[in-house]
Amino acid sequence: MSNLDFIYKRHSIRKFKNQDVPIEDIKEMIKAATYAPSGKNLQNWHFVVVKNKEKIEEMAKIVERKSDELASYATDEEMKKSFTKYRKYQTLFRNAPVVILIFAGPYPSTGLEILKAKGASSEEIHNLLRPSPGIQNIGAAIENLLLAAANMGYGGCWMTSPNFASKEIQDYIGFKKEGYFLAAITPIGVPEESELKSPPRKPIEEVMTIIE
Ligand SMILES: Cc1cc2nc3c(=O)[nH]c(=O)nc-3n(C[C@H](O)[C@H](O)[C@H](O)COP(=O)(O)O)c2cc1C
Repeated sequence: MSNLDFIYKRHSIRKFKNQDVPIEDIKEMIKAATYAPSGKNLQNWHFVVVKNKEKIEEMAKIVERKSDELASYATDEEMKKSFTKYRKYQTLFRNAPVVILIFAGPYPSTGLEILKAKGASSEEIHNLLRPSPGIQNIGAAIENLLLAAANMGYGGCWMTSPNFASKEIQDYIGFKKEGYFLAAITPIGVPEESELKSPPRKPIEEVMTIIE
């Protein structure tokens, strides 16, 4: 036991009990998400909560249809196999009682206007934008949301694999906010399994460098 248990309690949950998540609990998780840090405190996120079973199922069907369509463009069996390998993970949100669609809004990267005024090369501009601070904000919020869910007895899964169908999902849901796009999907619910675990991590020495 450590005081970091609130971190280690979170695992990606892909199977859920057929049990409702009250809207008050969802609001609490989203509030926790909004306490994530964000560059310039811009809070360029928006959370669309879908609790309607038919709509959740239709979103899964949209992903399946688009997945089939894209698979038909594969130029060889290998390409098709690598695309369809994780197919069932693209729609796992269909068995969750709640699906939260996480939208990302515009974020003005510090230095961009100046670089443009200077006539910077596309490489310089690319290097500035590559760390995507606006998306880092969204990542921080999603992690907060999932940590809150885990510590409230729920579980969820951060999902970007259905993103190839994000336009179709956004059109179906009918959510519009200037400059906002669907960045990730997180199903939330009570985990079906009680023995939860995560896949192993790389050893700390592999991912950490200390500069003396
Ligand atoms: C940006 C991002 C996208 C992910 N997309 C998916 C996904 O589409 N489907 C899925 O089953 N898991 C997805 N995951 C979950 C990862 O597979 C999972 O976090 C990783 O295997 C570590 O397991 P853990 O979350 O249980 O610790 C995603 C995670 C992140 C951070």
